[in-house]
Amino acid sequence: MEGVIDHHMRHLLTRIGGYDHCVTEFVRISEQLLPPVVFHRICPELAHGSQTKSGTPVTLQLLGGAPNVMAENAQRAVELGATAIDINFGCPSRFTNSKAGGAILLKEPERIYSITAAVRRAVPDEIAISAKIRLGYDTTDLAMDNAQAVEAANASFITVHARTKVDGYHYPARWEWLGKINDALAIPLVANGDIHSVDEFLRCREMSNCEDFMLGRGAVIQPDLARKISAIQFDRVIEPMQWYEVAAVVIKMMELMQTEPAMQDKKVLGRIKQWLAYLKRHYPEAALLFSEIRGMKQLSTVDYLLRLSSSTGKE
Ligand SMILES: Cc1cc2nc3c(=O)[nH]c(=O)nc-3n(C[C@H](O)[C@H](O)[C@H](O)COP(=O)(O)O)c2cc1C
Repeated sequence: MEGVIDHHMRHLLTRIGGYDHCVTEFVRISEQLLPPVVFHRICPELAHGSQTKSGTPVTLQLLGGAPNVMAENAQRAVELGATAIDINFGCPSRFTNSKAGGAILLKEPERIYSITAAVRRAVPDEIAISAKIRLGYDTTDLAMDNAQAVEAANASFITVHARTKVDGYHYPARWEWLGKINDALAIPLVANGDIHSVDEFLRCREMSNCEDFMLGRGAVIQPDLARKISAIQFDRVIEPMQWYEVAAVVIKMMELMQTEPAMQDKKVLGRIKQWLAYLKRHYPEAALLFSEIRGMKQLSTVDYLLRLSSSTGKE
C-alpha cells in the first residue's frame, strides 16, 4: 500500500506471521528505464533475496501503461533480484490515471493483455508474473474480459480487488464477483477487498469460493489478522495480540524509520499518526491515543505517550 506499507512495515507485519507473500508499493513506470536506485528504494529487500527479514517472499509491483517500457523495467527489476512481479491495474489516483497507468487501463482489456504479455515475455519463466485488477473503471462490464486478458497473457495468477475504480474504497466490496470470475478462470484468483476481520474473511471465502486472499487495510488495522486467518486453516486457536504488544510494534516502526539517515521527524510523526488512525478502528486504546496526539507536532512527545500507552494492560 503506497505511503503506508513500506519495507519496515513489511518486516514487522510478516514477523508477526500468517503471510505467504507480500507486495511492495508500486514502482511508477512512465517513459524510461528507471535507475536501480528507484527499485532499491521501493524494495530494499531486493538486496536480501527478495524476502523480508522473517523470510517472507516480496513481490515487486510495477505500474505503467506502455508494454515495451514495462517489459524493460521488469527485466531490470529481475536483474536486480526481483523474484516475482505484479502489475498494478487498480490504482485510482487521478495523477496515475492521467499518466495512463492503473485503473484507467481497465477500459481497455487489449492493453491489459499487451502489458501483461510483454512483461511475461521479458523475464525468465521461473519469475512469477501476476496482475492486480479492480472490477472495472466505472462499470463491471469489462470485469471478465480484463480477467481473461490477464490469463491469456500467461500470468501465474490474478488478484481482484472487488470494486470498480469509481467505487473507490466504499463499503462493501462486491465479493459475489470474485466467485464468478474465479469460475471462469483456470489460474488462481486472489480475493481482495474489505477483509478487515476474521468474520469478513470467512464471509468472503464463503461468497467467493477462493482459496487465496490478499489483505490491504486489514493488515494495518489488525497487525495479527493474517496470523489469525492462517490459524483457522490449521484448526488452531491463537491468542489475539493485546494492545501493549501492538503498541510495541508501532514503537519499533518509529525506531526503524529513525534509523534512516535522511528521515525527518515530521515524516515519522505523520506515519505514526497514520498507523494509529488505522489501528483505532480495532483497538480502543489506539483511538484514545490518537485523539490525544492528532494535533501534536513534536515527535518526542508522541514517542513518550506511545510508550506510556504501551504499558497499559501489560502485567
Ligand atoms: C493508502 C492506500 C494505498 C494503496 N496502495 C496500493 C498499491 O501501491 N498497490 C496496490 O496494488 N494496491 C494499493 N492499494 C489498494 C489495496 O492493496 C487494496 O486493494 C484495497 O485497499 C482493498 O483492500 P482492503 O479493503 O483490504 O484495503 C492501496 C490502498 C490504500 C488505502
